[in-house]
Amino acid sequence: MNRKWWQDKVAYQIYPKSFNDSNNDGIGDIPGIIEKLDYLKNLGVDIVWISPCYPSPFADQGYDISDYYNIHPVFGTLEDMDRLLAEAKKRNMYIILDLVVNHCSDEHEWFKKACQDPDGKYGNFFYIEDRKEGELPCNWRSYFGGSVWEPLPGHPDKQYLHVFHKKQPDLNWENPEVREEVYKNINWWLDRGVSGFRIDAIINIKKKLPFKDYPVDRSDGLSSIRYMLEDAEGVGEFLSEMRDRTFAPHNAFSVGEVFNEKDDELPDFIGDNGYFSSMFDFSTEVFGGSDKGWYDQAPITPDDYKKCCFNSQKRVSNVGFLSNIIENHDEPRGVCRYIPEGDLSLHSKKLLATVYFMLKGLPFIYQGQEIGMENLSFQSIDQIDDVSTIDQYHVALDAGFSEKEALACVSRYSRDNARTPVQWDSSVNAGFSEGTPWLPVNPNYTEINVASQINVPESLLSYYKKLIALRKDPVYKETIVYGELIPYLEDRHNLMAYYRKGEKTLLVLGNFQKETQTVKLPATYKKILLNNYAELRVIDGSVILDDYQAVILEL
Ligand code: GLC
Ligand code: CA
Repeated sequence: MNRKWWQDKVAYQIYPKSFNDSNNDGIGDIPGIIEKLDYLKNLGVDIVWISPCYPSPFADQGYDISDYYNIHPVFGTLEDMDRLLAEAKKRNMYIILDLVVNHCSDEHEWFKKACQDPDGKYGNFFYIEDRKEGELPCNWRSYFGGSVWEPLPGHPDKQYLHVFHKKQPDLNWENPEVREEVYKNINWWLDRGVSGFRIDAIINIKKKLPFKDYPVDRSDGLSSIRYMLEDAEGVGEFLSEMRDRTFAPHNAFSVGEVFNEKDDELPDFIGDNGYFSSMFDFSTEVFGGSDKGWYDQAPITPDDYKKCCFNSQKRVSNVGFLSNIIENHDEPRGVCRYIPEGDLSLHSKKLLATVYFMLKGLPFIYQGQEIGMENLSFQSIDQIDDVSTIDQYHVALDAGFSEKEALACVSRYSRDNARTPVQWDSSVNAGFSEGTPWLPVNPNYTEINVASQINVPESLLSYYKKLIALRKDPVYKETIVYGELIPYLEDRHNLMAYYRKGEKTLLVLGNFQKETQTVKLPATYKKILLNNYAELRVIDGSVILDDYQAVILEL
């Protein structure tokens, strides 16, 4: 595996609407990000991924872009972005943006022109088909519910494809002119000083053509896109062209949002000359998922969590670098998902932080994760903004659940859980904004906030700082970044333990339960590098781990 500039870094995701509001209109913005750069620097963050901040009608919160060359006025201006890039550079930090090119917005001028003249140049930027009453080109279900086909505005005899929301028409990657436009835009940003991209929903760019039906898997008579994606071949041709034309010549960092890749494709994706620098490991997020919908998703236990992580590590081993997360803007808060209900505590949050952060790969922290932000408790579906939660609520109702039950089902997985404003302090609106926040602040902000943790040695925030500092410590860095990961006592119930072996040998131990657990050490330890308790009890070569105790030992 070749060494790259980004491998020893720590990354942080910003969801700009909810990060920090500088002008009190209730929506976070780029000047607000600049205000907090020192906070991030002080935490030890190097790479900052900013979710879309381009012009957009916000049908899918910015993942529906109407102009790839500008900034949404609510977030600021291009000058603000340039200032952010310069301020980041001053601090040796790297800004990466979100590349959303499977689709654009229906308010993008390309789509408007396609509607004016579906047979002209821009008609071929999209997938537009003739429309006959009662017949669809294929039975695929959009990710947000309903058919992927929608009548083309102004042309009742035509329809266009959207695998996400109907305001997100899919771009036709088979058309070389579309690809050229995408590369031009990527290079424009890279030349401006952006260090790379997180690449959105990218697997969807390759469609299995001609359109055809797949097995119906719900009462709506439609079929999950998953079947089509498994069938489609050749995405690699697009992705390698994109790499060669954009990321590679700029030595840029790219991290793919990739689902459903096959084992033998991993080297193509993230090997030495992979399509991307890295890709997210979503194995713990998709665990227990069901084609029926969120209501049918099985919860994940600590043993399942461990298995998923180790399995991903084995699959990738020396092929490349995964990007490790416990949450993002599409998922509920990691502490509420991976820590069994009733066990949420400062100790358990630190344990989760330890066991994921020490995995091999590039750690990403999602805004608010570092202070242990939790899911929101929703009282009514009207409080929810997210399109996908609203769809899943209806899926649950259709499956026979009551309104109350349906709300409970979707609350657990709602994307809005992670989209509530960052809790900076205990003042009004958690210090996020003096205006009315676009999404409610979690009422627990009076207890969980940055100000109450920042200079407190026992806080979760301080603990994350220590984890980051350890990853960067010249003595341990080589081992933590490049060392092998070898599971220890892999089958032991509710114990997540592994070695990191390189120049040094480290042992990470996490007691994923409230009950104490005795673990035999494979050798005497030289040093405790991190411990979420004040002490470590050792008797006869065994450690007695307390309620959710996690330690990192140097052997
Ligand atoms: C990705 C984004 C998600 C968005 C979707 C469509 O999954 O992370 O937020 O809804 O793509 O762009
Ligand atoms: Ca604002």
